[in-house]
Amino acid sequence: MNILLSSAELDHFAKVGGLADISSALAIEWEKLGHNPIVVLPKYQCIDHLEEIEFTDTGLLFTICSLPIRIFKSVIPHTRIPVFLVECDSLYNRPGIYGNPDGYEDNDLRFFVLCKAAFEIMIALNIKIDIVSAHDYHTALLLPLLKLEYGMNPLFQHTKGVLTIHNAQYQGFYEINRVSTFTQWDLYSKDIQSPFLFDNKFNALYTGINFADAIIAVSPGYANEILTHEFGEGLHDVFQQHKHKLHGILNGVNYDSWNPENDKYISEHFSLQDRNGKQKGKLKLLTSKIGMIEPEALPLFGIVSRFTSQKGFDIFHGCIEQLLEEKKLHLIVLGSGDVQYEVYFTHLEETFPNHCSFTSGYDEVLAHEILAYSDFFLMPSVFEPCGLTQLYALKYGTIPIVRKVGGLKDTIENVQMMNGTGNGITFSAFNSDSLLTSIQIALEYYEHSDIMNTIIRNAMKSNFPIGNTANDYISLFKELLTH
Ligand code: ADP
Ligand code: GLC
Repeated sequence: MNILLSSAELDHFAKVGGLADISSALAIEWEKLGHNPIVVLPKYQCIDHLEEIEFTDTGLLFTICSLPIRIFKSVIPHTRIPVFLVECDSLYNRPGIYGNPDGYEDNDLRFFVLCKAAFEIMIALNIKIDIVSAHDYHTALLLPLLKLEYGMNPLFQHTKGVLTIHNAQYQGFYEINRVSTFTQWDLYSKDIQSPFLFDNKFNALYTGINFADAIIAVSPGYANEILTHEFGEGLHDVFQQHKHKLHGILNGVNYDSWNPENDKYISEHFSLQDRNGKQKGKLKLLTSKIGMIEPEALPLFGIVSRFTSQKGFDIFHGCIEQLLEEKKLHLIVLGSGDVQYEVYFTHLEETFPNHCSFTSGYDEVLAHEILAYSDFFLMPSVFEPCGLTQLYALKYGTIPIVRKVGGLKDTIENVQMMNGTGNGITFSAFNSDSLLTSIQIALEYYEHSDIMNTIIRNAMKSNFPIGNTANDYISLFKELLTH
């Protein structure tokens, strides 16, 4: 099967969050299964500075929306999977991927050009495509392009378009006049409801939903949740309308990258049978981050996250301060994003320098160290389409404390001491008291090594391989192609 995958992020090339991990892990697994994934990504400025990534000029030149485009080619490291990099300096030669905090004003054009370039590259190289795999609002416009323009081309005559929704909160609201100018689409349909406009705005995600042959939400839990007013981000009725083509497929982990026995980012390796390395790593991390010469025997809680309201840090107020004040735990935080959370964690670090450390920014090594060496991992999300960090934490015996939503609900089972089951601690209500209760339960477990050993064993044995995810995608693709 030839699968054209285009996404705003790709691990090793350009990453902000889990979208990068999954785009690249899916492609790798599809290749292992004997398929031909072909990836198309913008040539962001950051890609020029990556030591691991080499690329060559393909000589392909296009003009898209009156902009000159040049195509480079690379591969996903350690694979033969082609990654076509779309160079257009006026659109992509800038710092960052999306342009924080509110996104670049021309993200509409930036991602539309990416989508068109993906088809143009396939035409120039004469590659027949079976499946177009679009990810989030950024590349959702691959789907109307397939149905309205490129479907006439023999290369795409039988192609099916699939939209994966990693996060329905981001929808890509664009100004109607701008979009109609550069797409040349007739956005106002006279007789039927416009497939482009939602609430009188151009909505890229909504458009993708309408033109997709199938929609995948990144966990079964999230697939159910987006049908509801609470989690549908205003599109719940639209999702209800398209329920027949909505599927929930749980994300998975690339255990070649996330494995305590050979993780290339950590220095102290360990396994289920021998966890000495975890203890040593914890002491090293505490010493380097909190500067403790003789770390107290307190549990270490970790956070690695994008800073956005989605991640639930608003309920930390009135809970974490108290625990730090009482010297009940160590907290090591890595994250970046919304200023209010950066300010909050900076304040916590300044107030409790012996118990809390905050590192602002993106740091691959520290992310792996925190996930590997902490005792507990905090994820009190307001909503969580899947969540990958709780899955990574499990593999390292770092016990997730999560709110029961979306993919967190699907992957973390609350500990039941009576029968020795469970791989984490879960809570339901989104408030400081519920979080506090969960952390207090964790502190209690921490006092009992037999209980901790059982939970750690359950966690490390939990298994969510990306191979299963990739297989489920392929089964769906096959079904689409035969109907
Ligand atoms: P989301 O995609 O919503 O951010 P996920 O749990 O699915 O959440 O994936 C987050 C990914 O981004 C993980 O690979 C995590 O390790 C990584 N990550 C998040 N914040 C940082 C950071 N500040 N530095 C390094 N990696 C980070
Ligand atoms: C999104 C979601 C996260 C999910 C990731 C990968 O960023 O917020 O829950 O794990 O995409 O699908």
